[in-house]
Amino acid sequence: MANEKIGFIGGGKMAEAILAALAFATGRSPGDVIVSDVSAERRDVLARTHGVIVTPDNRQVLAEADIVFLCVKPQQLEDLLVDVAPHVRGTHLVISIAAGKRLAFFESRLPAGRVVRVMPNLAALVGASMNAYCLGGRCRPGDRATVDRLLSSFGQALAVEEALFDAVTALSGSGPAFVAHWVESAVQGGVGLGLSESDARVLTYQTLLGTARLLAEGRFEPQALIQAVSSAKGTTVAGMEVLTRTTMADDLRRTLAAAAARSRELSA
Ligand SMILES: NC(=O)c1ccc[n+]([C@@H]2O[C@H](COP(=O)([O-])OP(=O)(O)OC[C@H]3O[C@@H](n4cnc5c(N)ncnc54)[C@H](OP(=O)(O)O)[C@@H]3O)[C@@H](O)[C@H]2O)c1
Repeated sequence: MANEKIGFIGGGKMAEAILAALAFATGRSPGDVIVSDVSAERRDVLARTHGVIVTPDNRQVLAEADIVFLCVKPQQLEDLLVDVAPHVRGTHLVISIAAGKRLAFFESRLPAGRVVRVMPNLAALVGASMNAYCLGGRCRPGDRATVDRLLSSFGQALAVEEALFDAVTALSGSGPAFVAHWVESAVQGGVGLGLSESDARVLTYQTLLGTARLLAEGRFEPQALIQAVSSAKGTTVAGMEVLTRTTMADDLRRTLAAAAARSRELSA
């Protein structure tokens, strides 16, 4: 495993999730990770919990790290890039996880630096993020392997054309919220059938987890899974007869389309 020094500018929720998973998966010493944040309280939490080096100075991160994750909110980026641009060199791999900020936004503000755009999701907190990425025009041939390796250490990595980032943002970026909405309806459905709320939650969450693993590990395609659970005149068939007559599939398509349209509106 390569031992580049890794930096984070912005030490909030996403940075913490990524750095914790990265250190765990790659066996990096916490001393090889440096994080800057404007908040002394955040710096203190990160140093105490993860043993990483912390600093209030973004330039120190750029001076010490080869790979730098930009983890501030999208609206904080404009000022941040003005401040750090003179310190970004061609040797830096700059990885942005900001929603809606295009590669061109970074490349026009940073005269040097190889830029990568990533859309992770909140499952980074459990090392199961879906990380779609796109390399900028200044990236070198070896950068794809480096990025793939880093992103795979806190979830799954998938290279995607930048034009598809609004679709990715809708499906996997916002996706955990849409799935959680469905899950809540299923839990309440279980309660309506007489289960206690806590039992309904356990039953629903484990069913979600098990189904996701069957599909993600390639044991079944969705249609084959439905067939495998369905027996003639059985309970699944009775439920599917109702489900396939609802507008759920159409509603989900419209939900994703609305999220993708909003992502396009917010992009810069
Ligand atoms: N949360 C998600 O589910 C999710 C999913 C995909 C992508 N993302 C992207 O991840 C990025 C980070 O999100 P987050 O939820 O981790 O945000 P967050 O918790 O607000 O973390 C950002 C941190 O950066 C600090 N900061 C602000 N300006 C700074 C500066 N100039 N220099 C150094 N530190 C600075 C903030 O301090 P203050 O709070 O004091 O401003 C805060 O501690 C965003 O761009 C977001 O679009 C988030």
